[in-house]
Amino acid sequence: MLEKIKKIKNEAIVNILKTDSIAELENLRINYLGKKSEFNQILKGLKDLNEEEKKAVGPEANKAKKDIQDALEKRIDDLEEMVDTEKEWIDVTAPGKKIKRGHLHPITIVQRDIEDIFTSMGFEIADGPEVESEFYNFDAVNVPEEHPGRDMQDTFWISKEEGREKGTGTVLRTQTSSVQVRYMQTHKPPFRIIIPGRVFRQEATDASHEHTFHQFEALVVGKKVSVANFLYIAETFFSQFFGKKLNVRLRPSYFPFVEPGFEFDISCTNCGGKGCSSCKQTGWLEVGGAGMVHQNVFEAAGYEKGKYQGFAWGFGLERLAMMKYKIDDIRHFHGGDVRFTRQF
Ligand code: PHE
Repeated sequence: MLEKIKKIKNEAIVNILKTDSIAELENLRINYLGKKSEFNQILKGLKDLNEEEKKAVGPEANKAKKDIQDALEKRIDDLEEMVDTEKEWIDVTAPGKKIKRGHLHPITIVQRDIEDIFTSMGFEIADGPEVESEFYNFDAVNVPEEHPGRDMQDTFWISKEEGREKGTGTVLRTQTSSVQVRYMQTHKPPFRIIIPGRVFRQEATDASHEHTFHQFEALVVGKKVSVANFLYIAETFFSQFFGKKLNVRLRPSYFPFVEPGFEFDISCTNCGGKGCSSCKQTGWLEVGGAGMVHQNVFEAAGYEKGKYQGFAWGFGLERLAMMKYKIDDIRHFHGGDVRFTRQF
């Protein structure tokens, strides 16, 4: 009897170890330990043995049963572990998935480029509020209420009471020139600054007009500052920004805060001045406004009239970005279509 038990146990364990499937192990369990198994018959037959035989066979039979059960459990555990590692298997030769990263908006990229160029020429960066007082946006830069110059820029008014005290309304600033007097009230010349910032105009939008856009203002003030200084700095800046030698041309124009005032053009970034469809065969591209700071502006800042000279210029950032990246519609910038912004 003992021999038989041993034989069944050994055979069971060998078979368990040979089996690779959990379902198959369940069959083995039924075969070896189930109700109809040979082993169960032996256990059932124990009661017919005499006391002595019972003592010898009983514990051996129980031990054998336990050994088979243990072997089954261990094999099931091992198999489950193998299945898990198979699932977690990593193919180290597979090509990696491309991770999408965030990136800067083209306006931010262009703004940083411009700031880099100007700071390398010794300019500092100044800043002012987007919700601005009527005074800094208009009155301080020589555009009092009755001045026709106010009509040049359609304004979003935040508050505009009839009969209010001079300059006390509130606007969304229409130009970065609003920061000129703010800065001058707290700084004495000589200085050179740039003022990048968002501005707003109440106008119908089309391919070249937005109600919300960005400007860049430059302001250089000292005892001897001339139009020639402006020309030099403008040419240096635009040549660096576009990565090729460009010329700047001035045309007489009018802005209330400068005298004399100009509009300025740069030689066409596409054809270099020969004439092409980008510049409508003129060889020039319009960029912005400029001029020598009006003495009334210095006076509004608290400077002694006639003591200083300076030049100011302003241009639209979107327009510059459009030239650089050949973008045909200003509305792309804030249109929210990521297919556009992802290209930069
Ligand atoms: N502020 C003017 C505009 O928005 C541009 C400008 C700035 C013109 C400085 C002259 C000098 O149109």
